Amino acid sequence: MSDIVFLNNKYFKFKEAKISIEDRGFQFSDSVYEVVAVLNKKILDFDFHIRRLKYSTSELKFNYKVNNNFIKNIFQTLIKRNKLNNGIIYLQITRGVQSREHVYTKKLIPNVIIYTAKKKFNLPNKNYKGVKAITYPDIRWGRPDIKTTSLLANIIAATEASKKFAYEAILVKGKKITEAAHSNVWIVKDNNIITHPANKEILKGVTRTVLINIIKSLRFKLIEKEFSIKALFKADEVFITSSASFVTPVIQIDNVKINNKKIGKITKSLALNLYKSIN
Ligand SMILES: Cc1ncc(COP(=O)(O)O)c(C=O)c1O
Repeated sequence: MSDIVFLNNKYFKFKEAKISIEDRGFQFSDSVYEVVAVLNKKILDFDFHIRRLKYSTSELKFNYKVNNNFIKNIFQTLIKRNKLNNGIIYLQITRGVQSREHVYTKKLIPNVIIYTAKKKFNLPNKNYKGVKAITYPDIRWGRPDIKTTSLLANIIAATEASKKFAYEAILVKGKKITEAAHSNVWIVKDNNIITHPANKEILKGVTRTVLINIIKSLRFKLIEKEFSIKALFKADEVFITSSASFVTPVIQIDNVKINNKKIGKITKSLALNLYKSIN
């Protein structure tokens, strides 16, 4: 938990930051968010997160102009004041407060909330671990490419995973894999690295974008295409990516062992190269 949080141009102690019960983020999930990793006090991939935040706010027509320097300053202040070495910065922008009605009025003033949380990351060192995942139906709304807090379907899937002692829920739409409850999904087959194309059916992960650049620079073969649940189970390696999970190997899905429950070579190499690119 953050000691100090930012709310609408002021810093507060965590317990003292309050917003209205008629905030549209609270009542309708009419809000967007970003989760940004902080490693050794360093903010990772700031520009990519800001770019996506601009996309989310503009797709939903929020009355909010994203100012890079303003947000960066807040991030740096919170890292300092909360003495954050490793963890995440959570930023949420709601459309604002209005008496309850589906239709929003134009000139609402958004609520801006930013705070930090400590977190241990799964980095490719001696403690690097592979995780278990389950498969779960992708029952989300039609625009998961916008990073909104409309996350009920993700929450149900992730909770189901947790009940089965799994770290992630891989989402299945018809016969194909889209992504996971809180990360993007990748498979490796015959040295090809395959992930779902960044269209309206998935969130275009920042880690996904960064890793694609690394894959290209390493001259691995990358294919952005849809893949089936069958291909998932038959993959040589499976891994997930997100700002909080970096490159995390998946070594079991439901009751199926992947790569004999060992971390795959390509997965490890990508994780190491991603880590190297940060330092
Ligand atoms: C549904 C979903 N897909 C993918 C990701 C990965 O995105 P990023 O790499 O920007 O953290 C997330 C991150 O929270 C997510 O919630």
